[in-house]
Amino acid sequence: MAKARDSLEPGTMLDCYRIVDTIGKGGFSLIYLAEDDETSDQVVIKEFMPKRLARRRGDGRLMPVDNKQREALYRSRRLFFQEAKVMASLHHPHIVAVVNMFIRNDTGYIVMQHERGRNLGQFVHERGGKLSTTLMMRIFVPLLDALKTMHARAMLHLDVKPGNIHLRNGHDPLLLDLGAAQVLTVGGSTASHVITAGYSPPEQYRHGGKLGPWTDVYAVGASLRCCMEGKTPQPAPDRLSEDAVVPALERFADIYPRWLLQLTDEAMALDAERRPGDAGEMLAVMLHHRDAGMRVG
Ligand SMILES: Nc1ncnc2c1ncn2[C@@H]1O[C@H](COP(=O)(O)OP(=O)(O)O)[C@@H](O)[C@H]1O
Ligand SMILES: [Mg+2]
Repeated sequence: MAKARDSLEPGTMLDCYRIVDTIGKGGFSLIYLAEDDETSDQVVIKEFMPKRLARRRGDGRLMPVDNKQREALYRSRRLFFQEAKVMASLHHPHIVAVVNMFIRNDTGYIVMQHERGRNLGQFVHERGGKLSTTLMMRIFVPLLDALKTMHARAMLHLDVKPGNIHLRNGHDPLLLDLGAAQVLTVGGSTASHVITAGYSPPEQYRHGGKLGPWTDVYAVGASLRCCMEGKTPQPAPDRLSEDAVVPALERFADIYPRWLLQLTDEAMALDAERRPGDAGEMLAVMLHHRDAGMRVG
């Protein structure tokens, strides 16, 4: 990948890890491939680096772009540490595992096990969608189980999309990027600092919108749709003014089973109350039809 502005040079030592390359850059972080200098294990390191708020000094440390941004930078850094804590507290075979975290350069680092494989977002766009029902089940059953674990602990992922799903060997999915994750407080509604057009439901755009497990459900529905259609669905605010999303039941009749199309449409309902309530509910539908299918076949 082309060198990102402000990314650390290959060879840089961070704790016991040697940077090999920059493999990703988002609005809030840089992602590096690195190697444990002692064990030679490959790891992925996520560095907190919000590009609108901070820049790197010559000595590697982060500083606010200007004095006005100092407070925002600290607040954003606290959220990043929250992500690290959430990730480290979750132990699930389909949620990326945190192996270490530390503070250096006036910023935070999350160290994850490096997983071979590929990104579902890239895979789907290359194939132009059209994933088979079998493959979608192989991806979404474990993924929904991972989200069910989060929802059971009153946690929301809030940034589910194909780009945050990693496919290991045999298309074994891994849920990545808990950068937007939140623990629900009593009262429910929380502000979200991350929005992804096409995957975020209406309530995530609204100030004071009521977020809940149904918010992740919409994103899972939009992800299912993307696996069929090969493109990101119309963003929720545009759907509210003129919904151009033809129901999957019409658009993909004869291609996918009726129950899967119906589940996708229900999950993508603009009205949160019409969606399945949480990941567990969606999972139950999938398991029911998978097992029924096996009995028939
Ligand atoms: N543990 C990992 N193993 C392999 N690749 C990873 C890992 N974590 C992240 N990546 C790759 O880096 C990309 C960005 O990671 P992500 O956590 O989504 O960060 P961002 O906040 O920049 O979106 C992912 O889409 C994936 O391709
Ligand atoms: Mg991401």
